[in-house]
Amino acid sequence: MHTSQGPVEPLLVELRDALGSEHVLTGDDIPSAALIDWTGCFGGPAQAYIRPANTEQVAAVLRACLRHSWPVIPQGGNTGLVGGSVPGEADRIQPVILSTRRLTGIEVDSDQIVAGAGVTLAEVQHAAAKAGLYYGVDLAARDSATIGGTVATNAGGVRVCAYGMTRAQLLGVEAVLADGTVLTDLGGLVKNNTGYDLSALLCGSEGTLAVITRVRMRLWPPPGSSTLAVGLTPDLGSADESLRAVLRPGFRLLAAEVVDHAGWRLAGDLLGRAALAPESGYVIMLEVQDGGAGQGFDPDALSALDAVVAVDANDRARLWRLREGQTESWATLGPVHKFDVSLPVAAMDETLRAVRLALAERADILAVGVFGHLADRNLHLEVVSADPKADGLSETVLTLVAASGGSISAEHGLGRAKTKYLPLSRSAAEIQTMTKIKNALDPVGLLNPGVVIADPPRE
Ligand code: FAD
Ligand code: MLT
Ligand code: ZN
Repeated sequence: MHTSQGPVEPLLVELRDALGSEHVLTGDDIPSAALIDWTGCFGGPAQAYIRPANTEQVAAVLRACLRHSWPVIPQGGNTGLVGGSVPGEADRIQPVILSTRRLTGIEVDSDQIVAGAGVTLAEVQHAAAKAGLYYGVDLAARDSATIGGTVATNAGGVRVCAYGMTRAQLLGVEAVLADGTVLTDLGGLVKNNTGYDLSALLCGSEGTLAVITRVRMRLWPPPGSSTLAVGLTPDLGSADESLRAVLRPGFRLLAAEVVDHAGWRLAGDLLGRAALAPESGYVIMLEVQDGGAGQGFDPDALSALDAVVAVDANDRARLWRLREGQTESWATLGPVHKFDVSLPVAAMDETLRAVRLALAERADILAVGVFGHLADRNLHLEVVSADPKADGLSETVLTLVAASGGSISAEHGLGRAKTKYLPLSRSAAEIQTMTKIKNALDPVGLLNPGVVIADPPRE
């Protein structure tokens, strides 16, 4: 924000008038969990934590904050992994956190669903299932992550190879711009090439362009029963080859994940062991939509992986728990510096080797784990360091990733954590264009300052 602030009290008076004082929390009444992110690495104080109940209240809040030049951080389930949903430690002005959790309401409409931004991903999945349909995005934080948050981050997850990322499910949003203007694009037309796709633009904007209040998403026929095969592979290049060999024609891949041997064993120790106790390499998990009888897999390719096959739902769930438990398992070892990168397939093993070599030079590094979405060539690197700040670590890792032609953020977004490194993945022309969009929609920098684009220059 480049304008000067007065005292916060007049703003709080307006917010209480708009929302009722029980929904404008200040001081010790602010839930402490709202001030720190899931990783524990990002967070800071806020002037208020506010809970609008509908779109009109969100618009009233943003108009008031604009009048008083007060920064606003939209917050959904606060499961983001890049520090975009919480105040910064050294923010010049303590912001207002706008929680979307009271923006509820959910309705299935034919093969689409309309939901308030604060509805959880799990609630969307359940509503779809109740209607005999399926929502195409799934991730381990489903019980807390909100549908609005997943749209704001364009979340990926484990079903991207079958259904695409969140933007591929999106049919439209209702959102409030920084000046209180309400944009509504909830008509549900599958095809509508009239001008710019503003809903798609807001998807992945991480709370920096608008507050999303409602969304309309497409639903799919349910995949039905599936088979999960879990095998061993020495490296990621071989894993990719297996991926292409193992699926029989006519069957759909629902997931293709990898977990390195250390992470698989770690999660096994913490969450209960399942089949396989690898000493090296990676565990590869492949789920195929085949009616659950296992015929979607080529038997020779499976035996080359020494794979165990789970057709029973309980066995599948036990194996998935070890994959989905990776984030929490690595977090038990100490402060985790998280990297979420995508790489060209030919560069995956070599880049990891280079990263491990570079990290071996640092005395603060306690462990390095790798897991991720093999089909998307999206790897999550968990770097556990004795030093919560770990100066220079991000620069080292992300520079190596960029030099290999990778992206410094595949699915988690930039938040506060990766903003500084945006030039490693985007050209100057791209960043200038993003800055122009930010300045056009939010000229005073009200929404989530410091996230995505670090302090954009104003005209
Ligand atoms: P928050 O964390 O509250 O916010 C995230 C960002 O979106 C912030 O910048 C915030 O300002 C903005 N925002 C939130 N709601 C709105 C809104 N209504 N309008 C405008 N801006 C908004 N992510 C993946 O992509 N794939 C995964 O597989 C995955 N797995 C995860 C597993 C675990 C265990 C955890 C803890 C996280 C995982 N995540 C994953 C990250 C996270 O769940 C996603 O980023 C999710 O989309 C965040 O949703 P949220 O409601 O918690 O958003
Ligand atoms: C995952 O794939 O499990 C998530 O993106 C979470 C993480 O990276 O920790
Ligand atoms: Zn992921």
